[in-house]
Amino acid sequence: MAFTNKPHFILMFMISFILILFVSALDLSNAPAEAPTSDGDGLLPLAGKHVVIHNKVKNRQILNVHCRSSEDDFGMVHIPWNGTWDFRFHVNFSKTTKFRCHFTWYRGGSHYFYIFKVSRDDSPFGHFPVCKECIWEVGKDDENPICRIVREKGYLPWCFKWEDGP
Ligand SMILES: *[C@@H]1O[C@H](CO)[C@@H](O)[C@H](O)[C@H]1NC(C)=O
Ligand SMILES: *[C@@H]1O[C@H](CO)[C@@H](O)[C@H](O)[C@H]1NC(C)=O
Repeated sequence: MAFTNKPHFILMFMISFILILFVSALDLSNAPAEAPTSDGDGLLPLAGKHVVIHNKVKNRQILNVHCRSSEDDFGMVHIPWNGTWDFRFHVNFSKTTKFRCHFTWYRGGSHYFYIFKVSRDDSPFGHFPVCKECIWEVGKDDENPICRIVREKGYLPWCFKWEDGP
């Protein structure tokens, strides 16, 4: 009788083992070392991401930001001039996670931008390096007003136009 449970036991053991592997992968992706291009990021499933938005609008107004994905909605936030606001999330299994933000400020108009999309921010073979800490400066320039920057010295910002289309 005692042995009838054995296959279950082995199955449970295997499941725990897989879970442990999985959790350690998550832990790795949450490691505090936030290098500009962290190895493994963009390849690991469910990579942890940290998006930071820095208000640099030229006329020093409050920046109103509303970011959402198909699953999360952070509501409207108000970032004082030269202040930052940030959020964290995990890229989902199908790597389709996208966050779109709406930006408004006094005399700045109303603009949209994909603050995170896998093709730009999490593709090891894409045009731009994968970011784990994705830092964005908003409003410094009229032509290309939103720039992804790297904290470490020696990197030029990657600046983009608004994505106001549908
Ligand atoms: C903006 O903030 C940064 C960091 O908090 C600070 O070092 C800098 O002096 C500020 N810039 C201005 C112009 O206030
Ligand atoms: C992954 O996220 C995207 C958008 O964030 C969503 O549309 C999609 O359904 C999600 N897929 C899974 C498997 O959760």
